[in-house]
Amino acid sequence: MSSPTRLPLIAGNWKMNTTVAEAVTLVRAMRTELERITGVEQVVCPPFVSLDAVHRELEASPIQVGAQDVFWEDKGAYTGEISPVMLAPLCRYVIIGHSERRQYFGETDEIVNRKLRASLQHRLSPIMCVGETLAEREAGQTDLIIERQVRGGLAGLAACPGLVIAYEPIWAIGTGRASSGADAEAVIRRIRAAVADLLGEPVAQITRILYGGSVTSANVAEFLRYPEIDGGLVGGASLRSDEFVAIVWSTEIAKHSTTI
Ligand code: PGA
Repeated sequence: MSSPTRLPLIAGNWKMNTTVAEAVTLVRAMRTELERITGVEQVVCPPFVSLDAVHRELEASPIQVGAQDVFWEDKGAYTGEISPVMLAPLCRYVIIGHSERRQYFGETDEIVNRKLRASLQHRLSPIMCVGETLAEREAGQTDLIIERQVRGGLAGLAACPGLVIAYEPIWAIGTGRASSGADAEAVIRRIRAAVADLLGEPVAQITRILYGGSVTSANVAEFLRYPEIDGGLVGGASLRSDEFVAIVWSTEIAKHSTTI
């Protein structure tokens, strides 16, 4: 079922995959099919080095480009980092606080908050990721963890234009073991309530909240038939053009025809 105020969104997170040449080939392979689907916003997030080439490929296309991360300073002596000033001409979106960044690179909610603020200053729309570990879920701490991540990420913000949140349970990422639609819907309902508390109900009603974690064309409809789930953040399955196109088609069908 489609929300009247939230356009469904499917974002492909390519992670550390594809050379520049492969990224261009991939985007060329799916572009024509994707452009036929008008009821779903589509975003591809290639590695930094391919952003320019993919941006050029999609310049005249409604398909959006996103980065996978960003640093919070505009410029300076931060070897290896990429600033929002550099990203702004190339992308509309930026993924912030993906669990792999939290897990392997020590990103905290405070760092997520800094990156979010910096992105907003340069008119990048953040896709802020939150999610619990398996141990946290089994200990019944999912709501606590998610609430802390949402509150920490959005701390001190009076507004957050273009905000997208992705709920990605860590145990479901890259494992082939997706959450159930009902569980994801319940957590996403909580996230929306936290956003309402922090930024007001009208903002919560326009904020798109995605599910991520082993999304495929075979299971995406199971999530999207729930009204609180506005789309998906797709990892592995976004690297195959036919599969990504099928996910976007399923989203179009699920959001524009089915009711729960
Ligand atoms: P996955 O990754 O679809 O490969 O599970 C999702 C993500 O990490 O964004």
